Amino acid sequence: MRVVVGISGGIAAYKAALAIRELVQAGHDVHVVPTASALRFIGRPTLEALSRNPVTDEVFDDVAAVRHVALGQSADLIVVLPATANTLAKLATGLADDLLGTTVLASRAPLVLAPAMHTEMWEQPAVQANVRTLVERGATVVGPVEGSLTGGDTGLGRMAEPTEVVAAALARVAGAGSLAGRSVVVSAGGTREPIDPVRFLGNRSSGAMGVALASAARDAGATVTLVGANLHVPAPHGVTTVEVETTAQLRERMLELGDADVVVMAAAVADYRVDGVSDAKRTKEAWGETPTLTLALNPDILAELSRRPRSGLVVGFAAETEADDAALLQRGRDKLARKGADLLVVNRVGHDEGFGHVDTRVRVLDGSGVVADAAGSKASVARAIIDAVAQRLAARPASTASSLTASQERQ
Ligand code: CTP
Repeated sequence: MRVVVGISGGIAAYKAALAIRELVQAGHDVHVVPTASALRFIGRPTLEALSRNPVTDEVFDDVAAVRHVALGQSADLIVVLPATANTLAKLATGLADDLLGTTVLASRAPLVLAPAMHTEMWEQPAVQANVRTLVERGATVVGPVEGSLTGGDTGLGRMAEPTEVVAAALARVAGAGSLAGRSVVVSAGGTREPIDPVRFLGNRSSGAMGVALASAARDAGATVTLVGANLHVPAPHGVTTVEVETTAQLRERMLELGDADVVVMAAAVADYRVDGVSDAKRTKEAWGETPTLTLALNPDILAELSRRPRSGLVVGFAAETEADDAALLQRGRDKLARKGADLLVVNRVGHDEGFGHVDTRVRVLDGSGVVADAAGSKASVARAIIDAVAQRLAARPASTASSLTASQERQ
């Protein structure tokens, strides 16, 4: 396959070398099109040696071969890594003032973009609008992920690992990601239970894990709906997002959407709601010195989704503070059995672990024990979970409709 690797001018440009090598080793004919500023970060000889093809950023080189359109026309796939804010803006606008711009415009090949920039830049409405435009026109966006950035800061904006960009790009062309043709619904974030019009009971979930799962499922080829409860992180592109606030709203949406091939309950659901929500703001005067809130138990959405007749796979999460590993897994096994889900992702949380933090470790359990064990960034852990889900689905095709509960099915 002929792959054009576009490189734009960010520090992550050096990582493009790894992607080029991987693509060449996999037997692809790789043509590298750097922008002028990319060549200030990585040398042309490196790119030529790795790609085994000549490299130029010049529209006016090799004019007789009509290079500015020839590459684009003949490409089977274009991958731009890193895609800087500037290059995303140019591609979204359709600018053709360099060889990368003309190549992308002259091509009908799938376009895969791996953005890399500082968090503030990534979160700018202008950048988000450009990415949305590109996704709406069919581009696949891989990452960015959370991690350390060049300035010593940490956050969302780090380029996805080159090997992951290559995997997503190849899956896009093959149309055969491990979840291609599957529908996936992921709940993320933390529900809030109103006390009065201005106050709520909530939890510390940022939604980062659920968002990473939605992105990983999208990269694996699934059609993804994210039901986001009060997310602190941006919803991923290429995913339909539905916003909810309370557990009742989340439940309604999940029951509506829950006949997907895969349903993942990654949201931190409030176990209790306030009984007797006040229509007016509660004043100190009315509340007194030792106010009491009466709580009512919320329905267990995961158990409900698992126990009702279904054909899809139901995946739950268990965030536990249990320090002892064996006890942690035992709690996970008990929870899996109690809720009736097919898979349960167990992770340890504490004041310093889990919530909003970059690194995490999870174990995925089914009725027989641990089926996956992954640690690292939320993005890589999410991919491992999606792999486990895909394996489980492959063993149990979506067409096998069943009215059995999960526990009956296992027998
Ligand atoms: N969950 C749910 N509805 C609830 C509570 C939890 O769907 N009312 C889901 C969560 O999304 C998660 C799983 O159940 O996938 C486990 O959540 P967790 O809070 O660990 O379970 P609980 O049943 O609340 O158990 P515990 O008593 O340990 O808090």
